[in-house]
Amino acid sequence: MKFPSVLLTLGLALGASSSPTPADTAARAGPTAYFLGDSTMAARGANDGSTDGWGSYIGNLLTIPAVNRAIGGRSARSYWNEGRFQSVANEVKAGDVVVIEFGHNDGGSPRVNDNGRSACPGYGTETCVSDRTGETVYTFVFYVIQAARLYTAKGATVILSTQTPNNQWETGAWIGAPSRFVDYQRRARDALASSAVTLVDHHEAVSRMYRRLGRNAVNALYPRDHTHTSPRGAELAAQSFVQAISQSLNGTTSLRNYVRQPVTIVY
Ligand SMILES: *[C@@H]1O[C@H](CO)[C@@H](O)[C@H](O)[C@H]1NC(C)=O
Repeated sequence: MKFPSVLLTLGLALGASSSPTPADTAARAGPTAYFLGDSTMAARGANDGSTDGWGSYIGNLLTIPAVNRAIGGRSARSYWNEGRFQSVANEVKAGDVVVIEFGHNDGGSPRVNDNGRSACPGYGTETCVSDRTGETVYTFVFYVIQAARLYTAKGATVILSTQTPNNQWETGAWIGAPSRFVDYQRRARDALASSAVTLVDHHEAVSRMYRRLGRNAVNALYPRDHTHTSPRGAELAAQSFVQAISQSLNGTTSLRNYVRQPVTIVY
């Protein structure tokens, strides 16, 4: 995918990063896995005392260190604008794995009451102008592509993970249709067309698990709203991610060799 030069300039300017010092590299000889996302992945979830994010549990399920950099309320756009993708790129070294999973905060329109998080609709280089700030807003696919390139440029591999579903049993009947951000992750993977970038359909893995668990068990995982889960729900979301990685749900990812055995089968 080719971007207009203004976009390439943006990507390169924000993508410029210093190499790790020899001391940094020596201190962390083996690979590290970084997890970038929103409150559904973040430590303490929505920070309300009763929810948690799946990034709190992933470390127990891998044989390499897991660093959870998820922050509540973030979208691909706001994580980019706050320089958070870049700050992770400053730490990443060759052989590391970076998992990117957004979608819960990326909906809405930047053109109408822009909340600073909504992405411009579209699959590529479409742009919108924020009605609140005049900011040029790019698509979800665009932000993800720019972020992934920061890491592949340093010799890391990237896993584009699709967002977890909301409670699919909320209405009493199972409703499993994925949001458009699931498709957007696939589009970003396709556009990057790099052996260093793979997809894992976490949404699909959790959906299969939720169908299997059934209505009452799934409703019990949502103590406050239909987005944030209990600690148990977060642990199950981490287990479904690991099962998907271990069984190469959408292709074999770089994390597969670092899955702790035995894998708990949850779907
Ligand atoms: C991931 O693979 C599963 C199993 O083949 C499939 O059902 C799902 O649609 C795939 N997800 C994406 C986003 O391509």
